[in-house]
Amino acid sequence: MNFHVLTLFPEMVLSGLNTSIIGRAMTAGLISIEATDIRDYAENKHNRVDDYPYGGGAGMVMQPGPVYRAYKALEEKSGKKMRVVYMTPQGQVFNQRMAEDFSKEDDLVFLCGHYEGIDERVLDMIVTDNVSLGDFVLTGGELAAMTMIDCISRLIPGVLSNDDSAQIESFHDNLLEYPQYTRPEEFMGVRVPDILLSGHHANIDKWRREQSLIRTLERRPDLLKEAVLDENDRKFIRKITEDKRIDIKTDENQSL
Ligand code: ADE
Repeated sequence: MNFHVLTLFPEMVLSGLNTSIIGRAMTAGLISIEATDIRDYAENKHNRVDDYPYGGGAGMVMQPGPVYRAYKALEEKSGKKMRVVYMTPQGQVFNQRMAEDFSKEDDLVFLCGHYEGIDERVLDMIVTDNVSLGDFVLTGGELAAMTMIDCISRLIPGVLSNDDSAQIESFHDNLLEYPQYTRPEEFMGVRVPDILLSGHHANIDKWRREQSLIRTLERRPDLLKEAVLDENDRKFIRKITEDKRIDIKTDENQSL
C-alpha cells in the first residue's frame, strides 16, 4: 500500500508515523508513506497558498491551484487515478469497516486542509471520499490522516507480527473485545477469572464471547444493530438483559 499525503506540514506526518509497527512496516517495504508539501505548488514568490474568503467571513481559505497541481503531479507520477480522501468534519465518520475497504487499495491519497478549509471547486474536481474522525473540529487534517493510515496499515498482511491479532479484537463481528489478563494470577487481592486458568478451551471461548456481548451491551449498545450474532448469542443477550435489566437504548435492539 502506498499512502500519499497532501499537506502543509509534511514533517508532522512523516515523523509521527515513523516509529513502532508502522515504521517497521515501512522499512520492510509493506507500506510506503510519502508526504507532498502543497506549498511547493504555490505560484507566487512568497509561496502563499491561502487567501480571504469571497463573501467575507473569518479566516483564510486554501486556494484551489496549489492543491490541484499537487494532486496532478502525484497522478502523473503514479500513472493512474487514485482514491482521494479529504479529511473533514463534514465527512462520513471513520470506522473499522471503512478501514477494511480502504485497505484493499494499492494507493490512497489523503488531502489535509488547514485554515477555514479548501476552495470547494478543487474539492469537487479531485476528492472521492470525505472522511471525518468524529464530531469535533481539529486544527487541520493531518492528525486525522495519520490516524487513518495507522489503522489501515495494520490490516495489511504482514504488518502485524501475528496475523490473527487483527481478527480477534474490538469490532470483530462489530463487538467489543473481551477483557484480557496476564501475570500475576492475583493482583492487589484481585484474581484472574478462574475459567482462564482452567485450560478448557471451549469453555474459555464461550466465556470470552459472552464477555464481548456484555461489554458491547454496556458500553456500545449502538454497535449491536450491525453485529454478527448467532442464536446462542441472542439467547445469552435475552437472558442477561432480563437478569440485569440492562437498558438497551437503540430501537433496532428492542427485538433482542
Ligand atoms: N479536520 C478538522 N477536523 C476534522 C475531523 N474531525 N476529522 C477529520 N478531519 C478534520
